[in-house]
Amino acid sequence: MKTQVAIIGAGPSGLLLGHLLRAAGIDVVIIERVSADYVLGRIRAGVLERTTVELVERLGLDWRLKSEGLEHGGFNLADGERLIRIDLQDLVGTTVTVYGQTELTRDLMEAAPERGLEIIYEASDVAIHDHNSDTPSVTFSTGDGTEQKIEAEIVCGCDGFHGPSRRSISAGAGKTYERVYPFGWLGILSDVPPCHEELIYANHENGFALASMRSETRSRYYIQVPVDEDINDWSDDRFWDELALRLGPGPAETLVRGPSIEKSIAPLRSFVFEPMREGRLLLVGDSAHIVPPTGAKGLNLAASDVHYASAALVAYFNKGDNDAIAGYSAKALARVWKAERFSWSLTKLMHRFPDDSPFEREMQRAELDYIANSRAAQMSIAENYIGLPV
Ligand code: APR
Ligand code: PHB
Repeated sequence: MKTQVAIIGAGPSGLLLGHLLRAAGIDVVIIERVSADYVLGRIRAGVLERTTVELVERLGLDWRLKSEGLEHGGFNLADGERLIRIDLQDLVGTTVTVYGQTELTRDLMEAAPERGLEIIYEASDVAIHDHNSDTPSVTFSTGDGTEQKIEAEIVCGCDGFHGPSRRSISAGAGKTYERVYPFGWLGILSDVPPCHEELIYANHENGFALASMRSETRSRYYIQVPVDEDINDWSDDRFWDELALRLGPGPAETLVRGPSIEKSIAPLRSFVFEPMREGRLLLVGDSAHIVPPTGAKGLNLAASDVHYASAALVAYFNKGDNDAIAGYSAKALARVWKAERFSWSLTKLMHRFPDDSPFEREMQRAELDYIANSRAAQMSIAENYIGLPV
């Protein structure tokens, strides 16, 4: 098989990029390791920045996002005594949209056939070859064990943190930056109405908590737990009791409990790999960077990488601009690092770190009190939360 762009991975990065390239008349094939159902089974964050929404609008695939997405004009920080509302609409004149990543992925997957976007699912042993030559290729085996090879002009690694693309960068050509946090998030999904009309990020003596949602009838909640926590130690009742305590008296009163339909613990890390391109291989999304979910940046960073990668590839294929691809890594990383900083900063502010002394705890309380009383501080948080300009 031959194509212009071979994309590895059918998560949000691969699907958004594939659709944008197809819309520009560029031939694309996506090679995905698991089934479509498996991809859709992943429960992920769902706060979309304006930039992300605009990509979906540009594709004309935003009809469900517009009808089912929840537009939020603000969010809240809780310090155990009060809610500190960050009024996005007033501070930075825009909103964010709450819409599950699973739903966005479903919209993009379902539109693929009609848009001529070929996705090969359940491909195994995916490997990238000769990405530093003019004739890169991707090999893999299909479900029946048949060996396949796709020759492409460009390969895009949208294969997430555990995929083969980052590992294909020449030894010594890349640099890794990482911080692994000493805690994880225990998340629960339940078909109960949210306890508050906007998100609440809580800093409590016992640890962090987050009240989020998927719709007006489905809630998503998280509490910080030790990184080696055994999920079997957490009954639904124990989770609800701890969540109510950490969110504080107001939200606890409106908290509706119900059976968990999903419960899992996710580790937190900050991670960046540089560069995001080598030869004809571009890294996009989680294959190049990971953020702690505190700032809701994971999906949105993938979208900004896609914004830069699609612009570079359209210029390369449709305008003969051979230099366009060369600028991709630096452009994408400039925004990645600022989102990494915001996610790290909000994680430091809102979580209990095991090694923190009473002094660090007082620093957190002082910073929250400063934010509560400073429009400038709130504006800084707001402009980062809605996403810095691409
Ligand atoms: N071959 C083919 N596909 C692969 C391989 C492989 N060897 N390894 C991984 N994949 C696929 C995964 O199955 C997954 O569908 O690549 C896809 C990567 O998707 P994500 O991990 O979701 O990464 P990305 O598309 O960049 O989206 C980032 O997803 O994980 C969240 O928090 C993250 O919200 C952010 C978003
Ligand atoms: C979620 O709804 O899953 C969610 C929302 C905001 C975050 C993280 C997760 O910062």
